[in-house]
Amino acid sequence: MSDFIIEGGQRLAGELPVAGAKNLALKAIAAALLSPETMRLSNVPEIEDVKRQLEILTRLGAEVSHPEHGVYTISTAPVRSGAMPRELVNKLRASTVLTGPLLARFGKVELSHPGGCKIGRRPIDLFLRGFQALGAEVKEVPGKAYQLRAKRLRGGRIVFPKVSVTGTETMMLAAVLAEGKTELVNAALEPEIGELAVYLNAHGARISGAGTPLITIEGVAEIGAGSFVMMPDRIEAGTFIMLALATASSVTITRCEPKHLEVPLALWRDMGAEFELGPASVTVGKAKALQAVDVKTHEYPGFVTDLQSSMTVLLTQAQGHSLVHETIFEGRLFFADILNQMGADITLCDPHRVIIQGPTPLEGRTIEAPDARAGLALLTAALAAKGTSTIKNIYPIDRGYERLEERLLALGAHIQRA
Ligand code: UD1
Repeated sequence: MSDFIIEGGQRLAGELPVAGAKNLALKAIAAALLSPETMRLSNVPEIEDVKRQLEILTRLGAEVSHPEHGVYTISTAPVRSGAMPRELVNKLRASTVLTGPLLARFGKVELSHPGGCKIGRRPIDLFLRGFQALGAEVKEVPGKAYQLRAKRLRGGRIVFPKVSVTGTETMMLAAVLAEGKTELVNAALEPEIGELAVYLNAHGARISGAGTPLITIEGVAEIGAGSFVMMPDRIEAGTFIMLALATASSVTITRCEPKHLEVPLALWRDMGAEFELGPASVTVGKAKALQAVDVKTHEYPGFVTDLQSSMTVLLTQAQGHSLVHETIFEGRLFFADILNQMGADITLCDPHRVIIQGPTPLEGRTIEAPDARAGLALLTAALAAKGTSTIKNIYPIDRGYERLEERLLALGAHIQRA
């Protein structure tokens, strides 16, 4: 396992390019299972989670090639069964989206409690209910797994009592090849979902309403495949903006889509931050004293939970009291303890809320990354802190961010992988 050693307190400057969207790439790989034709994915982030998702497909018999950086071709024609290797499924949550196309294609799949970042309970009840609504039979098997069977999935009306991103995507993928019409009610609105639907429709699927709370899918017998370019990762872009703000740096975030960050940008402006927006760039202006704000995480287009950890770090550098209310996951604020060890003044009110008193200078420490997003937030804290920090065991950061130290070194950060 590698560590990052960071000498904090440097002002950064230059351009910071954003990679392709992780949360789209993982679903695009699943979509490859819907067609026997070859899919070509580009602008794919070269990260651990993508490698694991591709490994699951390879283990199922798919042919995957990697002709150049960020480009993969996938042919799932040779896949003969939906029996996913449990040890890999246990490594990442997004493996669940594979169950939709596998069930549609093979009529049988096992759904176990998938792994992923330890940020809360992350149940699978919505998936089980969704598949049942599409006519699948669900049987519990020993070892916390469920066997799902359906000769042919048939369209149904799936009402999500709670908005779920992978739940929406999994049911959308499953319904593409189901018989008849499916409606997803209270669907998630994340831009990656609309993008996935555009790709699928270009190759024969009939999906309407993706990006709205009601998605309708008319099932078709087969679809084709082709080229799919991953959109920029909005979470990475937002995280980089906060990294620049927390280190009082002037940095231009490039290859991003500012439209996907409208709500967070509004909130950072409320804090006193200034930006210059280009069609695919955000320039973070010269440092100013930042002011406290209250933040409540929300499904898209609200303030995304994946940016909450970095926001918590940023607010330690803002003047006044801030309340951070994490509404989506119950395990995403415990890393505040580590920030307090670095000098922050954060009170954990309950698992969903913290109060931050700022600004407080931060000091370098030896710390551990609890999950990908908090890992990057702690890296931001280490870059803003005085002195040396060691982030031990950075696998969670490598799961979600490509060549991070290379990109940060180019801005003048003092960071090395050990
Ligand atoms: C996705 C993203 C993740 C992001 C999250 C919320 C991927 C690979 N991951 O995760 O980065 O943080 O959306 O924006 O796209 N829930 C249930 N039952 C279920 C499923 C979910 O109760 O069967 C709950 C969850 O515990 C959570 C809420 O629904 O409280 C939202 O979770 P969900 O949107 O499903 O998150 P993911 O899709 O896992």
